[in-house]
Amino acid sequence: MKKVEIITRQEKLNGLKELLILHNCQGMTVSSVMGCGRQRGYIPEMNIIGEDINLLPKIMVFTVIEDKELDTLLADITNVIGTGRAGDGKVFVYDVDEVVRIRTNERGSSAL
Ligand SMILES: Nc1ncnc2c1ncn2[C@@H]1O[C@H](COP(=O)(O)OP(=O)(O)OP(=O)(O)O)[C@@H](O)[C@H]1O
Ligand SMILES: [Mg+2]
Repeated sequence: MKKVEIITRQEKLNGLKELLILHNCQGMTVSSVMGCGRQRGYIPEMNIIGEDINLLPKIMVFTVIEDKELDTLLADITNVIGTGRAGDGKVFVYDVDEVVRIRTNERGSSAL
């Protein structure tokens, strides 16, 4: 199993939710976060990269999926929410060792 963590623009949340459901994700967790990437939170067109770090509001969505779903999900995330502009976001992927569905005590991918 893989944990897929997506940090992107707030307005991409609805598209991302629909995409995850299309990919048979059984659940997701969403938070509001603050962050910056390489431009340190400044607008690149304005060409004023400050000394300080400007944190911008973003959404962070994570889901845990079966390994076989990973490649198509990553490809679709880029296609569906990418704009080609700085600040589109980033996806981090982690291995997940175990899941417990508390109500049923199921474990592993059938517990997702
Ligand atoms: N290396 C990182 N570690 C942790 N979080 C990151 C990292 N890079 C980006 N993020 C998070 O992702 C958000 C969006 O990053 P962003 O898309 O601006 O990345 P970038 O590397 O600057 O790429 P781009 O040049 O396309 O803007 C950031 O606000 C931050 O919350
Ligand atoms: Mg950036």
